[in-house]
This record gives sequence, C-alpha cells and structure tokens, in this order.
Amino acid sequence: MKLMFRPLLFHLLLVCATQTFGVKIQSFPKVNSEGVIQTELEETVSLICRPDGSHETQVDEELVWLRNGAVVSLTEGNKKGLSSVCVTPVIHDDNGATFTCHLSKNATVTASVILNVTYHPQLSGSEEVAVEEEAELVLRCDIWANPPVSSVSWTLNGSVVDLLAGGFSLTNDGFTSQLTANGVEKSLHEGTYQCTSTSLIYGKHSKQFSVTVTETTFKFPLMPMVAGLVVVCLTVLLAVFSRWDKITKCCK
Ligand SMILES: *[C@@H]1O[C@H](CO)[C@@H](O)[C@H](O)[C@H]1NC(C)=O
Ligand SMILES: *[C@@H]1O[C@H](CO)[C@@H](O)[C@H](O)[C@H]1NC(C)=O
Ligand SMILES: *[C@@H]1O[C@H](CO)[C@@H](O)[C@H](O)[C@H]1NC(C)=O
Repeated sequence: MKLMFRPLLFHLLLVCATQTFGVKIQSFPKVNSEGVIQTELEETVSLICRPDGSHETQVDEELVWLRNGAVVSLTEGNKKGLSSVCVTPVIHDDNGATFTCHLSKNATVTASVILNVTYHPQLSGSEEVAVEEEAELVLRCDIWANPPVSSVSWTLNGSVVDLLAGGFSLTNDGFTSQLTANGVEKSLHEGTYQCTSTSLIYGKHSKQFSVTVTETTFKFPLMPMVAGLVVVCLTVLLAVFSRWDKITKCCK
C-alpha cells in the first residue's frame, strides 16, 4: 500500500508544479507598479517573457507574444523557455499599446504590460507667411502631446494677441491650435506671431510666423473670358454654316 502511494503522490506534485506557474515579463525600461512602461519617441523598449518559477519542466514551454491582441511573429529560436521582443524605435502609435505574453498551450497563463509614450508638440523654427489684404489669415500650431499640453498662448509682436481688436478666432482640437482672422488689414495683422505650448514635463515649445500683408492683386477673369469667346466663335461659325449655300452661291 505504502509503496504504491508514493509514486502517485510524487506524480501529483509534479502535475501541480507544472500547471500552477505563470509567466513573467521583464523589461527595460522597467515596468512600474501599474504595469506601465514609461518611454519616449525614438527610444527602445525591450521585453523578455519567461515562465515564472524554476522547475526543470518549464524550460521548454513555448511562448506567444501579442501586441494589442495581434500575434507578434517570432523567430524559431525565440519561442521556447524565454522569448524577447524589442520595440525600436518607439513611435506615436505605440502609446497605449498592450504587449501580452502567454503560454502557447494555455492562453490563460498570461502577463501584460502597457507602453506610455510621452512626447512634446512639434513646434520650432519660423515660417514666412504672405497674405493679401481682405483675405483670410490662418496660422496653425501642432500641440499634440502626451501628457497633453497644459496651455497654448499666441503673441503678436511680443504681446498677447488681442482676439477682439484683431477680429481673430482661436480654436483648439487637441492636435492643432489655429488662429484665424478674416478680412486681413495691414495695420492690424502684419507682424511677428508666435505660438507657445507649455507642458508639465517638457516645458515650453514655440514656433514663429512672420506675416506680411500684401496688396490685393487684380485677378484677371481668364476663364469666363475664354468661355465667352468660345460661345461667340461657335455662334459665328453656325451662322456662317447655315448661310454657306447662299454665300457660296454669291461668290460664284
Ligand atoms: C491553464 O492554466 C490555468 C491556470 O494555471 C489552469 O487553471 C488551467 O487548468 C490550465 N488549462 C489547461 C488546459 O492546461
Ligand atoms: C503617462 O506618462 C505621463 C507622464 O509621466 C503621465 O502623466 C500619465 O499619467 C501616464 N499615463 C499612464 C496611462 O500611465
Ligand atoms: C508689428 O511690428 C512690425 C515691425 O515693427 C510693424 O510693422 C507692425 O505694424 C506691427 N504690427 C502690429 C499689429 O502692431
């Protein structure tokens, strides 16, 4: 009785040991306590998944990686016992991406991490803008950032743009801050504009616009003229054709 029981117990222990382990993700940079990896654009994130525990039989476990639920293709040697994935370079689209690793034979044995990609708005340099009197002036600044910028400000010749006095309207859709003025006037709208975004972690970024207001050029109505001429010619031709008989008779 005793002899028979021992192998059974041993077998039971072995089964438990191979079935209760999980998988573990190690990463550089490190995962924080919320399962989030902090990174920036252009950086590299490396992720390593391995079965949790040190039992001999776990070494050969095949692993699967998913990015936002889609299987990541892995080379043959990168599946068993330990599997690594490298995200390089990190792009905007990786922000919020979930990387999951699970056992090939049991998808409930799983671990996940989420990337938090921080970036500042693409604001720098200066741009020359020419706009005609009476036309519309539109200036746009990129303010897309993670975390979102805390404020955006616009100046004209160094002082805050007076929206009311200049007849400006200002819009912000989270991606772009746009300053618009209708019916441009040289005295009101010419000058150096600057938009500045402020981010809690990246500080200030700005872009300049040198706006010159030019005189309205007289636009020659070329297309209507051409259309008019074509109609006149066709009418004349038709008239000539319809009277061709008479004309030729006269000429004889
Ligand atoms: C998969 O793993 C879970 C958790 O360890 C376990 O409860 C379940 O029985 C396993 N399923 C199979 C088919 O091995
Ligand atoms: C991402 O990182 C930023 C900057 O550290 C932080 O403000 C934000 O809460 C983080 N988001 C998540 C989902 O962890
Ligand atoms: C801004 O400065 C320029 C150059 O000094 C000047 O020509 C322009 O009139 C100024 N614009 C406004 C709106 O004051």
